[in-house]
Amino acid sequence: MKNRLLKRVGIGVGGLAALGLALFGAASAKASARLGTVYETHRIDLPLPPESDTAAIARGKHLVTARYACAACHGENLAGGVMIEDPALGSVRGPNLTRGRGGVTASYQMADWDRIVRHGVKPDGKPTIMPSDDFFKMSDAELSDIVAYIRSVPSVDGEVPAPSLGPVGKVLLAVGKLPLSAERQPTGSHPASPPATAESAAFGEHLTATCLGCHRQNLAGGRIPFGPPSWPAAANLTPHAEGLGTWSFEQFEQAVVQGVSKDGRKLLPPMAEVVQGTKNMSVTERKAMWAYLQSLRAAPTNVD
Ligand code: HEC
Ligand code: HEC
Repeated sequence: MKNRLLKRVGIGVGGLAALGLALFGAASAKASARLGTVYETHRIDLPLPPESDTAAIARGKHLVTARYACAACHGENLAGGVMIEDPALGSVRGPNLTRGRGGVTASYQMADWDRIVRHGVKPDGKPTIMPSDDFFKMSDAELSDIVAYIRSVPSVDGEVPAPSLGPVGKVLLAVGKLPLSAERQPTGSHPASPPATAESAAFGEHLTATCLGCHRQNLAGGRIPFGPPSWPAAANLTPHAEGLGTWSFEQFEQAVVQGVSKDGRKLLPPMAEVVQGTKNMSVTERKAMWAYLQSLRAAPTNVD
């Protein structure tokens, strides 16, 4: 009797495991198919920046370390860094961007930089896991300055393993919860230059493009779509009572420069890492972001 019961339960569990494996197999196949799709992008006609343009290199350094925070995932020396390291989601690292051994950009032309950064498409046409949505609205001038800086940094040797998704990462990719930028890439032409550097909402909107992936399109925060379970919900940045409605500019500045919230609480990762970039922004850039955030429609925190 006991044996039979056990046998039955055994079959039940075994059957469930088999079904689970079959579903997981299907999810893995779907995930591989999404990553294996080849994308077309438009052709751009931009020259590589001259290597001796020190002004462009200086502007590019600011863009890489502050405004677009490439260094957050590609490392301080751009020779490799970590985006996600989570047993369930996977190991997703930013590769070596220097021209050292193991660097991936040595033979990049401007079209390759455009494709990977502003379209989320790798040189072989496959989609990247990098969240390039943040860079869709980057202007030609900014991209050129970024390339000038990256090509000027010291070459560092070092191979970075390609991203490998864990079981949850594969399932999220299969069901479309892990967004791939290439699937949403812009088709129109890119702006030649960014909005004028001023304490204006227009410039602020340009700067907050990198906040949307986590704080969501309406900037009202909530669960981070691509984040591991350990990440807290992103804060509501609109002028709503649940958001920054009662904040002053000084309190906003304390959050994005020192990583400390209005109530004195230390902000948690991943915001703590984002601050490594925003703390390098200029006062004008921070004031512009504030002007834009204050101009938004007050919205309650996203709940899904
Ligand atoms: C949130 C993390 C993150 C940020 C920010 C980021 N990257 Fe990446 N990047 C990655 C990851 C992860 C990969 C590897 C993706 C893959 O292989 O699918 C990558 C790949 C690349 C590649 C190599 C593509 C290839 O395989 O040839 C280049 C070039 C690159 N990023 C440039 C940039 C630049 C320039 C910036 C800033 C404007 C930037 N990245 C910002 C995470 C990031
Ligand atoms: C990688 C995801 C991510 C990105 C990108 C990001 N944030 Fe955040 N942010 C968070 C999370 C998560 C929190 C909540 C942290 C906590 O509760 O400790 C947060 C909190 C904040 C807070 C504190 C609000 C409060 O109530 O304490 C401010 C201000 C903020 N973010 C501004 C920004 C701005 C401005 C940008 C873009 C330049 C940005 N964030 C980009 C994830 C992100």
